[in-house]
Amino acid sequence: MNTLDSARQVTACRVCGGVDWQDVVSFGSVPPANAFLEPAPAYEEDRYPLAVISCRSCRLMSLTHVVDPEILYRTYAYATPASDTINDHMRYVADVCRTRFDLPAGGFVVELGSNTGVQLRAFQEAGLRVLGVDPARNLVEVAERHGVRTLPEFFDADTARAVARDHGRADLVLGRHVFAHIDDVAGVLTGVRELLAPGGVFAIEVPWALDMVDDLEFDTIYHEHLSYFLVRTLVTLYERHGLRVLDVERLPVHGGSILVFAGLESGPWRPRPSVRELCDREEAAGLFGDDAYRRFAERVETTRRELRDLIRGQVAEGRRVAGYGASAKGVTLLNVCGLDGGELEFCSDTTPLKQGKVMPGVHVPVCSPKRAAQDPPDLYLLLAWNYAEEILAKEAGYLGRGGRFVIPVPRPLIVSGETRAA
Ligand code: TYD
Ligand code: ZN
Repeated sequence: MNTLDSARQVTACRVCGGVDWQDVVSFGSVPPANAFLEPAPAYEEDRYPLAVISCRSCRLMSLTHVVDPEILYRTYAYATPASDTINDHMRYVADVCRTRFDLPAGGFVVELGSNTGVQLRAFQEAGLRVLGVDPARNLVEVAERHGVRTLPEFFDADTARAVARDHGRADLVLGRHVFAHIDDVAGVLTGVRELLAPGGVFAIEVPWALDMVDDLEFDTIYHEHLSYFLVRTLVTLYERHGLRVLDVERLPVHGGSILVFAGLESGPWRPRPSVRELCDREEAAGLFGDDAYRRFAERVETTRRELRDLIRGQVAEGRRVAGYGASAKGVTLLNVCGLDGGELEFCSDTTPLKQGKVMPGVHVPVCSPKRAAQDPPDLYLLLAWNYAEEILAKEAGYLGRGGRFVIPVPRPLIVSGETRAA
């Protein structure tokens, strides 16, 4: 289906306006990674080009095409999973955000892309006033039921002004794993500037492009992720919009993320050494020149081939293979590696919204972990590899009975009960 009328092709860089792009990787046309489908005899799905380019001026990595956010986000299948890893992480984020730049007691926290409100509840429990902003109407209902007031809107300059008018200025504006989803970053930063109190802090958590490149996390490339940020690129972006990067902390979640704190240029805070240190590491990794991206693309090709051959080989030898965690990454991985229902019998996932549906593009049916445990496969392809530790610990029984996992990136790795004990 020709769907290009609901996608915009990127011409100028959303950070610096540059037009000199290096081609990095191209995965052909792929459906949006969270567009889970009802099972049907035949499918007609919208597909959009999925390819990454790198701006030679500011080294933003960007998708070539921006799918209309109304299509991607108004009804959203990704709900924060019930996971110890992510719960502990959210509590940690709440703690650093409260202490690092002296968030006032009883202060006001606004979160963009607040999903079901789990992160904001951690602030609420610490006595802060909170407001979520999220366009997904199905998730806003859940957040509101949990007592987290949430506006069912995209965060832009107009929403930000309305929030400032109705609720007052924010001491903290937070966006976890949402800033890379935004096309009009200028509009959002204008909103942030107008919403922040003079000493307020804007904190975002984004995947770090250096970790993505080093660890070959090419399955994090999907239509929601429009930007893959280096710290240096964020410094350039914020400078252009009256904000200043103050501090950056590396975090282990989602394959390597950074928590980036910024304040108004006119505000009281000065940058800390971490900002310079991480920019230096990016430079040392060669990420300001073409070669690193060329090498990345070559390594992606190798892993794609190895993973496809490994899984097809297992199936050819008569083993039953299934997916573990119907993550957006997993949907991408299967689509771009050419694996589908021919190889994977099913995919287990804890998210009720995904169960009973089939995965976009590859049409692998999603079932609950309970169903999966009744008839487990010989081999699970771990599509939620960012939770590997938690999942391998939880599945010790399956491993003990001879079950195995394949961790797909950076190179496919088979984990069995024995290799784990070793
Ligand atoms: P996640 O990696 O959080 O994000 P993304 O969709 O952006 O790639 O998704 C993890 C998926 O894995 C999510 O659908 C929930 C599921 N999951 C399980 O099925 N079992 C688990 O133990 C955990 C931690 C997650
Ligand atoms: Zn640029």
